[in-house]
Amino acid sequence: MGAPIIEVDRVSRVYHRARRSLTRPAPVVQALREVSLTVEAGERLGIVGESGSGKSTLLRHIAGLEQPTSGTIRFDGKDISGLSGRRLGFLRDRLQLVFQDPMGSLDPRMTVAQIVAEPLHARRVRDAAARVEEVLAAVGLPAEAAGRYPHQFSGGQRQRISIARALTVSPDVLLADEPVSALDVSVRAQVLNLISTLVDARDLTLVFVSHDLSVIRHLCDRVVVMRAGQIVEDGPTEQVWRDPQHDYTRRLIAAIPAMPADTHRSEI
Ligand SMILES: Nc1ncnc2c1ncn2[C@@H]1O[C@H](COP(=O)(O)OP(=O)(O)O)[C@@H](O)[C@H]1O
Ligand SMILES: [Mg+2]
Repeated sequence: MGAPIIEVDRVSRVYHRARRSLTRPAPVVQALREVSLTVEAGERLGIVGESGSGKSTLLRHIAGLEQPTSGTIRFDGKDISGLSGRRLGFLRDRLQLVFQDPMGSLDPRMTVAQIVAEPLHARRVRDAAARVEEVLAAVGLPAEAAGRYPHQFSGGQRQRISIARALTVSPDVLLADEPVSALDVSVRAQVLNLISTLVDARDLTLVFVSHDLSVIRHLCDRVVVMRAGQIVEDGPTEQVWRDPQHDYTRRLIAAIPAMPADTHRSEI
């Protein structure tokens, strides 16, 4: 735990939807409303909230993929909220994203080796092949996976490939947007375990988005609860789980289906 690495300061984001009628104004969506959030280096932060609450939007802004309508975002003290394109290049070495749907984010025409090496292309890395081999092993894929294509793998293995790709540049921060939500329940725990192990072994800062607080509980020390573009609760995960302060958080917890084996972090 240490210095703040991500500082979100009163960030708002407005989207304009396509106009449906010439006589009415284009509908606007206030996806983020004055969101403030500090993540410290080494922290494992969960972001929970129902669908449409703004979780993915917040993550894309932290990753520099989108710019806020107002407010500022700092990464390691540097204001990134006005930067785009090449001026954000430095961030790609420091921060990587993993998405929910590995099929959508893995190019089907590329081999696993090409996919995993892709983030290295903009850099002059001498031994890309060794790097690929190292990260594939780290995510538990066999060396021969390198020559195969995404469709030859199961959903869980494909998510391992996206995690490997995120690790090739040795980032400091991993942002994960519902990385296990599309997976079979039977492989979820394995992928969560893998993320947890990698975060520990590589001293990563983790920001992990899920609509399911029971998943965040397995991984994250702290959780923020989002509702309609705002953070309504922020605290240690166990405390929020056992003693939620907000009605909305209570409803989120009540909506979690009871799992036959409600395992906790140490047991998965
Ligand atoms: N590119 C976009 N254009 C228009 N509206 C968007 C866009 N991205 C997100 N939204 C809207 O912003 C709100 C928050 O969406 P999102 O961040 O995807 O929520 P979550 O990830 O929590 O499900 C939703 O109302 C969504 O429809
Ligand atoms: Mg989302």
